[in-house]
Amino acid sequence: MGTVVDAAIKVANGSAHTNKKVTVVFVLGGPGSGKGTQCSNIVEHFGYTHLSAGDLLRAEIKSGSENGTMIQNMIKEGKIVPSEVTIKLLQRAIQENGNDKFLIDGFPRNEENRAAFESVTGIEPEFVLFFDCPEEEMEKRLLSRNQGREDDNIETIRKRFKVYMESSLPVIDYYKAKGKVRKIDAARPIEEVFKAVKAVFTPESEKVAA
Ligand code: ADP
Ligand code: C5P
Ligand code: MG
Repeated sequence: MGTVVDAAIKVANGSAHTNKKVTVVFVLGGPGSGKGTQCSNIVEHFGYTHLSAGDLLRAEIKSGSENGTMIQNMIKEGKIVPSEVTIKLLQRAIQENGNDKFLIDGFPRNEENRAAFESVTGIEPEFVLFFDCPEEEMEKRLLSRNQGREDDNIETIRKRFKVYMESSLPVIDYYKAKGKVRKIDAARPIEEVFKAVKAVFTPESEKVAA
């Protein structure tokens, strides 16, 4: 898995700051590419904690926060919520959790997300797990996801695909140029995708010749 990048997350605590060393993997890919599904498998096998930016934003709406209505409107339109809001939720989740290994799923979604997270937390991802999947397949999966999500309708799905192409793919290209992207063909069945994912997370020294 390469070398472990130690990064410290800074959390304001009155005038003092507490630092926590963490390892972060960004999990990226289009809507419906299977990020959440594979993150559950990674958690089970490799002891990471899964933080989905979308899940944190949806929980923030439910909690009745003052930002709730704004977040709900952005999600309905497939737009990206201002980084400040999402980063605060991620920082809090990392700080509150006893684990030091995190999968951050669905973030960074655009250049603003990426640059702000890096400057606020000082965290560089260990690597980026990228689920590559054709739009046609993602659309099919989203339309049959059945989780009662307000954004899983064809009108919003089209907007999310556009935002993904225009704003999220450039973030993946940024990390590609740094040699940090581990690309997975996500169009295959869940078990096959996980085989490829496992190979990325298994240290070379532990890989057994088949
Ligand atoms: P994401 O988090 O990337 O939006 P999900 O993990 O929620 O995607 O998956 C979207 C839908 O597709 C879910 O209903 C899930 O069960 C299904 N799904 C996930 N991976 C696959 C796969 N490899 N093949 C078929 N269906 C899948
Ligand atoms: O990743 P997920 O599909 O759960 O994201 C759902 C929605 O949450 C996105 O379409 C977007 O409106 C919002 N979101 C965001 N910023 C992120 C992640 C998600 O605004 N970094
Ligand atoms: Mg998801």
